[in-house]
Amino acid sequence: MAISSRLQIGDQFDHFQIRNHIARGGMSDIYTAYDLLAGKEVVLKVPDRMSIGDPAQYERFQRELEVMKTLNHPAIQKGLASGTYNNTPYLVTELIKGESLRDFIARSAPMNAEDAIALIMKIADGLLHCHENQIIHRDLKPENILITPEGQPIILDFGLALTKNSHRVTYANLSGAAGTPDYMAPEQIEGHRGDNRTDIYALGIMFYEMLKGEVPFHGDNNLAIMAQHLKGSVPRLDKEIHGLSRQVAAIVSKCLQREPELRYSSLKEFINDLENPDQVDILILDKPTGLSKTASWWRSPVVVSVGTALIILITIIIIALLLQHFHK
Ligand SMILES: Nc1ncnc2c1ncn2[C@@H]1O[C@H](COP(=O)(O)OP(=O)(O)O)[C@@H](O)[C@H]1O
Ligand SMILES: [Mg+2]
Repeated sequence: MAISSRLQIGDQFDHFQIRNHIARGGMSDIYTAYDLLAGKEVVLKVPDRMSIGDPAQYERFQRELEVMKTLNHPAIQKGLASGTYNNTPYLVTELIKGESLRDFIARSAPMNAEDAIALIMKIADGLLHCHENQIIHRDLKPENILITPEGQPIILDFGLALTKNSHRVTYANLSGAAGTPDYMAPEQIEGHRGDNRTDIYALGIMFYEMLKGEVPFHGDNNLAIMAQHLKGSVPRLDKEIHGLSRQVAAIVSKCLQREPELRYSSLKEFINDLENPDQVDILILDKPTGLSKTASWWRSPVVVSVGTALIILITIIIIALLLQHFHK
């Protein structure tokens, strides 16, 4: 029989003794527990009451563990094991002592640019490690990042992550779709799988939030916020925040372009711009971030090359006609 209610402090679950209920995630309850075999404190993630019977949960935890095992970086949570006990799947991860980026932002944002840059760089570094290993997180938000007392951010929750081999995974029924849309990229809202630029968008929203103290898009409900991501334009941060450089505002803006093609194509470029602000292209600030394909179809490489070819052809014809005319 599956465990149908929340575990209690002192309960034994497999070879774990439950110590504390620390959080309710998108679809899970998270506990600290003492691993009686390993003799150390760990974090145990089990499906919550709503998703306990969902057969996808076991697969989800297994994949989450696999993803964590592929990665090895100070900014990435370490996975220890996954299993099933009394028909209840579970995931074991290393215990991280610290506060969530959500609480950190609530306490310290708006942050000064220097501190925000230092923090976002550390997160970007971990995320770059994911991307270099062909893993897209797809559910980046301040709830899924913890900060240790030493100031090291650690990315968690790879439950929605896309790997090279996980072709079947979509957003349907997963926490990303059920959770806050504040960090969701437009292509994600439209139901696409997303790629590294989807994570870069979410990173950009967190960067914006650290600097401004609030996310760029607001609405009465999730649908209204999603519509903003699809149709709205992000306010220019250099106009919003007194003293913020145009370079930093341009970097945020490049992350938050509606069209993935207009964003950074890799986190290396993002990190490089932060390290070398003199070379940042600030012209991007003059264009709204919400520029869509329909508004810029004439900029597409195909249209531009066909157009150029046509202009050359017409010029040649005109010259030929003129030559013919004067030779008569
Ligand atoms: N290893 C850990 N150490 C400390 N806290 C954790 C750890 N893993 C998760 N948490 C806490 O539990 C919350 C939910 O975990 P998460 O993995 O995001 O679950 P879900 O997939 O259900 O959203 C996190 O926001 C964090 O506060
Ligand atoms: Mg989570």
